[in-house]
Amino acid sequence: MSDETVPLLEVRNLVKHYREASGARVRALDDVSLTVRRGEVVGIVGESGCGKTTLGRTIMRLVEPTSGEIRVDGVDFASLSGAKLKAARRRVQMVFQDPFGSLNPRHKVGVIIAEPLVVHGVPGAKARVAELLDLVGLPGEAAGRYPHEFSGGQRQRIAIARALALDPALIIADEPVSALDVSIQSQIINLIGSLRARLGLSMIFISHDLSVVRHVSDRVGVMYFGKLVELAPTSALFERPRHPYTSALLASVPRPVKDVVREKRAGAGLVAAAPGEIPDPANPPPGCAYAARCPLAEPRCREAVPPLAAVETGHEAACWRSGEVAAREPITSA
Ligand SMILES: Nc1ncnc2c1ncn2[C@@H]1O[C@H](COP(=O)(O)OP(=O)(O)OP(=O)(O)O)[C@@H](O)[C@H]1O
Ligand SMILES: [Mg+2]
Repeated sequence: MSDETVPLLEVRNLVKHYREASGARVRALDDVSLTVRRGEVVGIVGESGCGKTTLGRTIMRLVEPTSGEIRVDGVDFASLSGAKLKAARRRVQMVFQDPFGSLNPRHKVGVIIAEPLVVHGVPGAKARVAELLDLVGLPGEAAGRYPHEFSGGQRQRIAIARALALDPALIIADEPVSALDVSIQSQIINLIGSLRARLGLSMIFISHDLSVVRHVSDRVGVMYFGKLVELAPTSALFERPRHPYTSALLASVPRPVKDVVREKRAGAGLVAAAPGEIPDPANPPPGCAYAARCPLAEPRCREAVPPLAAVETGHEAACWRSGEVAAREPITSA
């Protein structure tokens, strides 16, 4: 299955439209292409509603794509059925933002972590649960307790243990630390780093928190209004952003930790990084969706959508004026 020359995950021209109750169509994902290599962590950032969760859930086939391809180890899930599909699904697992909502409060932790093993008929669940608890830094006796007996950070360790149960090749983590206190966030981030080193995990790490994404990712993708607008190695993205939106996002951090905590308490996602409104998803503009907020916008930006294109090796941006971005808005690194 694991041919080293084939990317672990290959997403091609992925589109997801939702139909709202009013009948309006929402383009939650608009032609997203992305690969994840073996052992790589790709961070995805962007403001609330830009399509990050939809991307994760579509890759997981928790929602069906409107069009496009998703290949894991070169195999398109859509071409599989029955036992082959079930086996392929084991390769990708998800960790969600809310470690309480995602754990069944009526089940003991041992049962929760063993569930995927039972579903897939894997023998030796009890020993595997003990191994997984140890891997995520929890004591073996945790198996006999209930989720409410644990702190938020410990519950996220339980969720990670369950995601690892079937030895997946790729984990999609959707805001895995956003609900946690800042001090606990760094413990979970360190855990993810050590699991990566020990297990050679690949990951898509979704977050609205740029500093977290910078810390964990090899490459970072920036989403805006359902599109990937920039994709680059982490250092290149933070030091030489080539999309004005990325530039604006970077200019909005770092902020004092107490402000970030206050915003989280207020339930806000990433604060608006630039003045102006995000377009109505049911009525997208003809050109670049960022043009209305963009300090560099010129007439062609309102007429034609810029494609995601290479600006240097391994660095792509979807902007007609990408050459002028870094020069106009110098970014001081954190
Ligand atoms: N089931 C659904 N039905 C209709 N529209 C949806 C559905 N799920 C998401 N959307 C819409 O799709 C767009 C993308 O939503 P998504 O949840 O993927 O964003 P997100 O980037 O994860 O946001 P957040 O940072 O708030 O989690 C939004 O406009 C949202 O309202
Ligand atoms: Mg989301």
